[in-house]
Amino acid sequence: MTNRPRRRVDRTHLEALLGRLGLFPVEVPSLAELIELLTGLSDPPGADENFSRFRELQENVLTACTGDDPETLEERFLELYAHLHTHEAPYTRGERRSVDASGGYWAHAGGLSPILRAGPWLGPGTRSVDLGAGNGLQGLLMQKLHPHRSCCQVEISGAMVEIGRRLQHWLRIPPDRIEWRVADVMKTPLGGWDFVYLYRPVRPNGPGRVFYERLSEALAAESGQVVVFSIADCLGDFLPPAFDRFFSDGHLTCYRKPPTNR
Ligand SMILES: C[S@@+](CC[C@H](N)C(=O)[O-])C[C@H]1O[C@@H](n2cnc3c(N)ncnc32)[C@H](O)[C@@H]1O
Repeated sequence: MTNRPRRRVDRTHLEALLGRLGLFPVEVPSLAELIELLTGLSDPPGADENFSRFRELQENVLTACTGDDPETLEERFLELYAHLHTHEAPYTRGERRSVDASGGYWAHAGGLSPILRAGPWLGPGTRSVDLGAGNGLQGLLMQKLHPHRSCCQVEISGAMVEIGRRLQHWLRIPPDRIEWRVADVMKTPLGGWDFVYLYRPVRPNGPGRVFYERLSEALAAESGQVVVFSIADCLGDFLPPAFDRFFSDGHLTCYRKPPTNR
């Protein structure tokens, strides 16, 4: 890894640019922070093997930050994000059998919007989870942007979790803030979370149905507030009426159950 002269983004110009994208007001400072973070880091560990285009894509973002076109900046940043997320999960033969048996989805990216909108729901005491986390990028960036008590990352691919552990170190997230669990969501214990993020780890028809039934039951049994961010939502049909659907744009759907013990 060679040292490069640091190029810093001008935060005022950056926020002014992002302000022209038509985002929700809450998203602008979070996106600016994320851009500042990922353009200020050296190459991620394992760059040659897993993130060979990181430096090139990072340079593209830095260049777009000095320009005057917010759409170009957004596009360039999404390319960098997608590269870090990686969509090809390396599965062992056994892991692939489990994914196929539960009708599991492969490692498509949930996108930036859940990360940018989660802030109001993540406080110092929050225990979050990403069910089917891939390399955990979503939870890592949520933890970095909105520090909270713990983030549990459940993923069937052990290799993806190993990449995620290295990303955690790179992002300087303390060890006790992330719990990595190499596990099948069909079998792992569910519950004990106040903020649940998921992007269809398994299909809701066929064997995967049981997962959504178990998850709904576990979340309904929580006495405190529970917030769910669900991408390409499959969980909603299983949640009891106590869960209020307070947002949906077809991609991200959000639910909230108020506390029941106060
Ligand atoms: C659509 S991706 C979502 C990745 C990430 N959560 C996001 O939103 O960007 C679904 C993830 O679920 C994982 N997965 C599929 N079946 C699973 C299972 N039975 N148990 C645990 N994880 C599973 C896949 O390996 C993949 O990483």
